Amino acid sequence: MTSEASFYDRIGGHQVFENLASHFYALVTQDPILRPMYPPEDLGAAARRLMLFLEQYWGGPKTYGEERGHPRLRARHAAFHIDEEARVAWLRCMKSAVDEIECEQSLKDELWSYLEGAAQFLVNQPQ
Ligand code: HEM
Repeated sequence: MTSEASFYDRIGGHQVFENLASHFYALVTQDPILRPMYPPEDLGAAARRLMLFLEQYWGGPKTYGEERGHPRLRARHAAFHIDEEARVAWLRCMKSAVDEIECEQSLKDELWSYLEGAAQFLVNQPQ
């Protein structure tokens, strides 16, 4: 692998993002704060959207954009009541999913710091 390999490749490619999204959504189904915010069934489709978005963000395939257009994450989350409690719950599920990845710690740290910042950015309710 060359030094020009994308983050997507360096962290392990498709399988890593698929595992991350499916682990995350398995935890969402058990979370009393998050579960009611998500579609009543078919969390598989939601897991796929998150997986495709993260793959594209980190330099992998651009399938998300082909299927969904510009991510516009703030706008797409406007319909949901995202307060501090929801942010913490989302990150708790995501932390557990990120912890499962087997890769260099520095890659994990980079991924995690992005996710923390993005979650903060998506809070849309005042304290
Ligand atoms: C801060 C807490 C967050 C909450 C409570 C939350 C909640 C939700 C909900 C309820 C959905 C709809 C599920 C669906 O049908 O797709 C959704 C979609 C999505 N979320 Fe979040 N989210 C949060 C943070 C994030 C973060 C940090 C990211 C990215 C790093 C993200 C990326 C996405 C994506 C890509 C979609 C699908 C958008 C689409 O194409 O429709 N979310 N989120």
